[in-house]
Amino acid sequence: MNCNEVRRILVLLLLAPAIAQAQSSSLRVNGQRLMQHLSELAQFGKNPQGGVSRVAYTNADLQGRDYAMGLMRAAKLEVSIDPAGNIVGSRAGSDSSLPPILIGSHIDSVPEGGNYDGDVGSLGAIEVAQTLNESKVQLRHPLQVIIFQNEEGGTIGSQAISTGLSERDLNLVSQSGKTIREGTKLVGGDPARLAEAKRRFGSIAGYFELHIEQGGTLEKENIAIGVVEGIVGILHSDVTVEGFANHAGTTPMDQRRDALLAASQLIQAVNRVVRSAPGRQVGNVGKIQVWPGAYNVIPGKVVFGLELRDLHANKITSMFEDIQAEARQIGQTSGTKISFTEPVVSQPALTDAQFQKLIDSTAHELGFGTKVMPSGAGHDAQEIANIGPVGMIFIPSVGGISHSPREFSKPEDIANGANVLLHVVLNFDRNHHPDK
Ligand code: HGY
Ligand code: MN
Ligand code: MN
Repeated sequence: MNCNEVRRILVLLLLAPAIAQAQSSSLRVNGQRLMQHLSELAQFGKNPQGGVSRVAYTNADLQGRDYAMGLMRAAKLEVSIDPAGNIVGSRAGSDSSLPPILIGSHIDSVPEGGNYDGDVGSLGAIEVAQTLNESKVQLRHPLQVIIFQNEEGGTIGSQAISTGLSERDLNLVSQSGKTIREGTKLVGGDPARLAEAKRRFGSIAGYFELHIEQGGTLEKENIAIGVVEGIVGILHSDVTVEGFANHAGTTPMDQRRDALLAASQLIQAVNRVVRSAPGRQVGNVGKIQVWPGAYNVIPGKVVFGLELRDLHANKITSMFEDIQAEARQIGQTSGTKISFTEPVVSQPALTDAQFQKLIDSTAHELGFGTKVMPSGAGHDAQEIANIGPVGMIFIPSVGGISHSPREFSKPEDIANGANVLLHVVLNFDRNHHPDK
C-alpha cells in the first residue's frame, strides 16, 4: 500500500460516522407500503360502516395480531408473545449492554371503531423497523416493537408489564365477555407467569408512541406534528341504581321507585359536576342497561358505566366524590339505592421533558411544524411511564373524529408521523449516553 492509499483509507475511516449520519438523515419510511398494511389490517373486524370492530380477545383481534406478527417477521424482527399477551418484535443493537428502545401501540379497537387509532402507531413502528432493516442501519440500542394487548379495555397489556395486574383486574369482564385472565390466555399470554412479564424501572431506554390526535386541533391549526406533554388519567366505575319493578299502568306516579328515572337524574348530575369547575376535565356515561326492559314495567334496576378524565388525579377524585354525594341525594328523594363499584383508574402521566424536546427538534429537522399539547385520550404510554421515560408523537385526525368508523388521517400525515418516529429513534440512539 502506498502513502496515498493509506491516506485515503484514513480519511474514509475518519469520515465514516459523518457519512453514516448523512445517509441515515435522508432515510424515509415507505409511506405507500404503510398505507397498504393499514388497509390490509382493516380487513380484520371490518364493519359495514367502514371501520372495524376489533375488540380485544375476539376472533378479529386474533386475526389482526397474526397479521401484525407476519409483518414483523417480514421486517426481520424476532417475534414473541410475552406472558402478558403483548406482541414483541425484537431487533438486536450493536451494544447489548444497553436497554432497549421501545416503539409501538395497540391494534385492538372499541366496538364500531375506526382504522387508525392504535393501528397507525403499531404498523408505523413496524414500518420503522422495516426501513432500518432494508437500509441495513445498525442501532446501538436493541429495538423492540411492541403491540400491547387490550388497550381499549383499560391499557391492560402495558399495565401488566409496568405496575402489574391485580387479581381483581384479571377477574374483570372485558368488552368481549371474557375476563382479562381468559383473554390474556387466548392471545397467547400466560396469566400464571405474569410476574415474568413485568419490567423493572430503568429496564428500558425509553418508549416512543406514534398516534392519531383523536381531536381536531392539529388539523384546524394546520400543524403536522403534535408533541404530547401529558396523558389524561381515566376513572371507570359501574353505577347500579335499584328501584322497584312494578306495573306501569296501575302504579300511581307518586308511588314509583323508578330506577331509570333516578339514573337519568344522576347522569344529568354527572354532566353538571364535571362542568362546574374550570379546566379540561371530561365525564361520560356511555353505556346503560335497564331491567327488566319492557314498555309496561317500571324499571327496577339500571346499571350504567361512568367515566371521568383529567390530567390531574386529584381532580378526578374530587369529581367522583361530588358525583357520589349527588347520588346519595337522588337516592333519598327517589326511593332508590345507588351504589358504585370500586373505581378502576389509569393514572395520568407526563411525558419526559427531554423526549418532548427530541420529538420537537426532530420534527423541525424534517421540516414540520409542531404544537405541544395534552392528550385527552388514554394511551399505553401512560402505563409505560412507570418504568421509563416516554414520548408521544401525534398526527392530525380529520374533523377530530375518533372511536368511530369515520375516523380518518391523511396518508401524507401518517407517513410524516412515521418519519418523525424513525428519526426520533435514530437521533435518540445516536445521542443518548446515559453515563455521560
Ligand atoms: O379510551 C381512550 O382514551 C383510549 O382510546 N383507549
Ligand atoms: Mn382508542
Ligand atoms: Mn389508541
